Amino acid sequence: MAATTLSQVYPLGSRLNEAGRLEVGGCDVIELAREFGTPAYVYAEEDMRARARSFREAFGSRTDHFEIIYASKAFPCTAAYRLFAEEGLSCDVASAGELHLALAGGFDPARIYMHGNNKTGEELEYAVECGVGTIVLDSFHEIERLRRLAPRQRVMLRVTPGIKPSTHSYIQTGQVDSKFGFAIDDVPRALDGLGELELCGLHAHIGSQIFELEPFEKLAEMLSELGDWPRLNLGGGLGIAYTAEDDPPSIDDFADALLRRAPKDVTVLCEPGRALVGNAGVTIYTVGTVKEIPGIRTYVAVDGGMSDNLRPMLYGARYEAEIADRFGGEGVCTVAGMHCESSDILVRDVLLDDPKPGDVLVIPATGAYGHAMANNYNSLRRPPVIFCKEGDARVVVRRETFEDLTARDVI
Ligand code: LLP
Repeated sequence: MAATTLSQVYPLGSRLNEAGRLEVGGCDVIELAREFGTPAYVYAEEDMRARARSFREAFGSRTDHFEIIYASKAFPCTAAYRLFAEEGLSCDVASAGELHLALAGGFDPARIYMHGNNKTGEELEYAVECGVGTIVLDSFHEIERLRRLAPRQRVMLRVTPGIKPSTHSYIQTGQVDSKFGFAIDDVPRALDGLGELELCGLHAHIGSQIFELEPFEKLAEMLSELGDWPRLNLGGGLGIAYTAEDDPPSIDDFADALLRRAPKDVTVLCEPGRALVGNAGVTIYTVGTVKEIPGIRTYVAVDGGMSDNLRPMLYGARYEAEIADRFGGEGVCTVAGMHCESSDILVRDVLLDDPKPGDVLVIPATGAYGHAMANNYNSLRRPPVIFCKEGDARVVVRRETFEDLTARDVI
């Protein structure tokens, strides 16, 4: 008999049903696999809404001056933009492409923040044309460019505070040696060069998947010491649980950390990405082959891999995995992708219940930076995105087709 409790990493409201099968958003994932095929990204819509509300409540119960901005790079999907716009969040875009999606999702351009260490001239023009509310300035060259283009645009200044939180070095961004933002010592010169640009405050983002709160408190303090600004944007970065052992801070504790050392009359902005969507999504795959190397390892190969989830390969990220209708197995397995790379491993040394070809395998906590970083390596067709709610499933991004793969070819 399968285990009945689910680890915290699954979407809110998930459960094992009477048949011992995983349900996400009230939908049986084995049935989803049958109906929509695999691999597929499956999201519980209510999970994302609940987390958006938790952010708003956590800040709203502590201050009247705050703004929650969805860092959409974590899951740039039109339906997700729509959902977070409906939940009253603002939006962070990191490119013209994300801006296009945010507008398609119905975000009011005035509530959009445009980021990027090298926004192209075309991107800046597009942002200004669309009426993007705030452009977050990242370099001296950009100040010049924007002054020529839109001399009175509303802006924030991105500062590199020299704070290095504990996380993978690839996703640290606040240290001195960073391609992002203005060094503290350069801030006065940047401020002097703004001309008529309407500066509304400072921004910093120290990194991602962070469990410590002290760096956020320090950040609030440092930015506050840089002058009296009406708004301080303290970035994103709140970590999430990828495995049952992970113990990230709560959204309430995060709000405390951001607010504790910020002056009371300042509007504090934060930009969560992963913490809004990461645990809302799971990826479902079909097991194709099982290869046992006696005394060494059992490879369980699935019909996706580094094209739908780059994180294990890029950051050595750890995930859980289960057979979707037989949770709680005891055989040590390594879940491999189907790409032509030995390093295309999704999960190492995970306990599975006797996996066999045809089984549906689920990897939880893939809601952030999965679909976002999906690619077509080996010409795999990128998976669909399925939103589930109260037992209803809807495709919000369809699976790529062979025609999509040749659509840009000019012969
Ligand atoms: N704000 C800015 C300016 C950012 O650059 C980021 C993330 C965020 C907010 C949101 O951070 P979050 O709350 O999601 O940690 N691909 C990596 C993550 C890269 C994050 C880039 N910037 C990963 O899969 O772990």
